[in-house]
Amino acid sequence: MAKFLVSGGAGFIGGNYLHIMVDKYPNDFFVCIDALTYAGNMETLGPILNKPNFKFIHENICNREAIYKIFKEENFDYVINFAAESHVDRSIENPEIFLKTNILGTQVLMDACRKYGIKRYHQVSTDEVYGDLPLDRPDLFFHEDTPLHTSSPYSASKASADLLVLAYHRTYNLPVTISRCSNNYGPYHFPEKLIPLMIQKALKNEPLPVYGNGSNVRDWLYVEDHCTAIDLIVRNGRNGEIYNIGGHNEKTNLEVVKTILKTLGKPESLISYVKDRPGHDLRYAMDPTKIESELGWKPKHNFDTGIQATIKWNLEHQDWIQNVESGEYMNWLERNYKPKEKKDA
Ligand code: NAD
Ligand code: TYD
Repeated sequence: MAKFLVSGGAGFIGGNYLHIMVDKYPNDFFVCIDALTYAGNMETLGPILNKPNFKFIHENICNREAIYKIFKEENFDYVINFAAESHVDRSIENPEIFLKTNILGTQVLMDACRKYGIKRYHQVSTDEVYGDLPLDRPDLFFHEDTPLHTSSPYSASKASADLLVLAYHRTYNLPVTISRCSNNYGPYHFPEKLIPLMIQKALKNEPLPVYGNGSNVRDWLYVEDHCTAIDLIVRNGRNGEIYNIGGHNEKTNLEVVKTILKTLGKPESLISYVKDRPGHDLRYAMDPTKIESELGWKPKHNFDTGIQATIKWNLEHQDWIQNVESGEYMNWLERNYKPKEKKDA
């Protein structure tokens, strides 16, 4: 049996990771630590809350004293850090919390790893640390050794954290891995991000706000494929290594929005071009050769299957989305959850 700390597990990707892994590895134990910011949603964890190999702890990764106490009590084997402020537009409005959570929170977790000992610390990072690629050079991709060249306060904070993780490996010999993934989509995606936002706007026949002219390109990966990649890296990856994750599913924002409208039978006249995002990255595109050849990872979904599954999920989970839109999800913890007694852990 191995014990996993999953920070940020009430968010989009961490939540999907936990859904899959708590079922897949009944002999391992998963502890989720989450501060439940606006992006954390206990309803996402509803289906696994009562599983015998899962426990939730409401805590902030920046709270050093509390994090040390948890590490001392739990004796983790693996730490996977999903916890972050993750929305680029919010980072442009207010960078400070991004620096606190994404950089200092990472430091606290790694200090706890050093103090109490672990087998592996894994940092969930992003393709955005590489900056962007030009639209007229489809032959170019991000490789693991592509220089860091960030554009937004979000990506700068993630790149800073990556550098700190590598420094802890080199200086203190902390066993670490880093994954850098392209844009995710799928179930439980907070409806401020492009795909779930556009699905909701289309369903309500509201204008779909496309930044600039909609020609920016993102490399979309279905979230389940990201989770299986992380699982492979954590269990079989090499210490000190970075792994790029992506499925070669590049689409312009306009292509994504038009696919959503077509699937939902809505007119393209709903598209509304709005002011561009400052510093807007043009194109992200990953080269995933390393994880494919070293660890045998292959994505199950392409964009066509993934977007259909995502639209279906959104149609079937309007309760989850409406609770997010109304803010009701923020009260879930008080209404529904009593922490497990210590003896259950
Ligand atoms: P998210 O915003 O949906 O979830 C983040 C979670 O972290 C939330 O549950 C939130 O409550 C929690 N959190 C925030 N600050 C915290 C703190 N100080 N202490 C404890 N918990 C805190 O984000 P996501 O889309 O699930 O992304 C997860 C990770 O994956 C992030 O590190 C992000 O940078 C990275 N990533 C995301 C994408 C993407 O497309 N969404 C792509 C590549 C990498
Ligand atoms: P987003 O989902 O915020 O992810 P990221 O910025 O991390 O890639 O945005 C994806 C793309 O969609 C990005 O090019 C910005 C664009 N976008 C819009 O055009 N309109 C919107 O309302 C949003 C949220 C994003």
